[in-house]
Amino acid sequence: MAIISEGESLQKSDISDNKKNSSREAVLPAENEFDMNFENNIRPKTLDEYIGQSQLKETLKISLEAAQKRNEPLDHLLFYGPPGLGKTTLAAVIANEMGSRIKTTAAPALERPRDLIGILMSLKPNEFLFIDEIHRLNKLAEEILYPAMEDFSIDRTIGKGHTAKTLRVPVPKFTLVGATTKAGSLSGPLRDRFGIVHRLEFYTKEELTFIVKRTAGILNAKITEDGAYTVASRSRATPRIANRMLKRIRDYAQVKADGIITSEVANSAMDLLKVDKFGLDITDREILKLLIEKYDGGPVGIETIAVALGEDVRTIEDVYEPYLLQAGFISRTPRGRKASPEAYRHLGYPVSSIQKGLF
Ligand code: ADE
Repeated sequence: MAIISEGESLQKSDISDNKKNSSREAVLPAENEFDMNFENNIRPKTLDEYIGQSQLKETLKISLEAAQKRNEPLDHLLFYGPPGLGKTTLAAVIANEMGSRIKTTAAPALERPRDLIGILMSLKPNEFLFIDEIHRLNKLAEEILYPAMEDFSIDRTIGKGHTAKTLRVPVPKFTLVGATTKAGSLSGPLRDRFGIVHRLEFYTKEELTFIVKRTAGILNAKITEDGAYTVASRSRATPRIANRMLKRIRDYAQVKADGIITSEVANSAMDLLKVDKFGLDITDREILKLLIEKYDGGPVGIETIAVALGEDVRTIEDVYEPYLLQAGFISRTPRGRKASPEAYRHLGYPVSSIQKGLF
């Protein structure tokens, strides 16, 4: 069976793993078992514990209450947005709030029709099914999902050749939660079958500071308010990055300081990790340097950037680009990506060297 269990959404290592090895087992969507345990331990369980995404939470609370009052499963949900913003976490929170369980898988693990049919048949009434990277679902799997989502039934072919018959078989009423970093890559018919479609937003520094303090509490790590704010400020507005960074900084504080994560300790640890004050890592800076040094600020096509850096296009598009765009370091034009004046300033290039009038 192709259930991966509690997972998380796409991240840097997943993409390269998938590229290297296309077998179903290779699609485990976490860096390793320890990361997965860590993330499961720190995940909020209720909507009140879940920090940020306030507009989405408001909408969800109404939908949840209405479904509960009608004693019906919740409408199918589609969450999209950059990796690490809490799509999997939110799906698990919603299932918990509905007093139900969630089964988690990812589209690349549903290669054969029987993988998906097996999961659908194994669901109990009102359970949730989470499909990560749903834009990567193949056509056959999509066609199995359509009647499952609409009528809670699947079409099964019995027999072979001209005696083959299609039987409509019921599946338990369930809620599908799809997650994707690329809403635009989803087919129209699949997207239209989701009743609730929502984009997850990057987190503010204040929200991330809350998350860092909450995680520190669970980890029994001592952190000051300023320390939490520093970690938050340098974590690309992304909880998964903030939480992972916190673990590294906790180690640093224990070895190089007195165990307390102050702003100074957090800054020193993050300098050592080569994460700059905006949370950019080496690859982010390489992208900006490439645009500025080799292409006079751009525009440069995404394929050119990927080849120059030895990364794949999806990694650049899904993992690096969203935050660089959000933070205002690059812009997208029909002819490619351009470095902004902020990127020049941040990396210490004279802004006067930007091609005149082109930004
Ligand atoms: N850990 C990761 N994401 C979180 C969130 N949105 N709220 C609380 N804790 C989190």
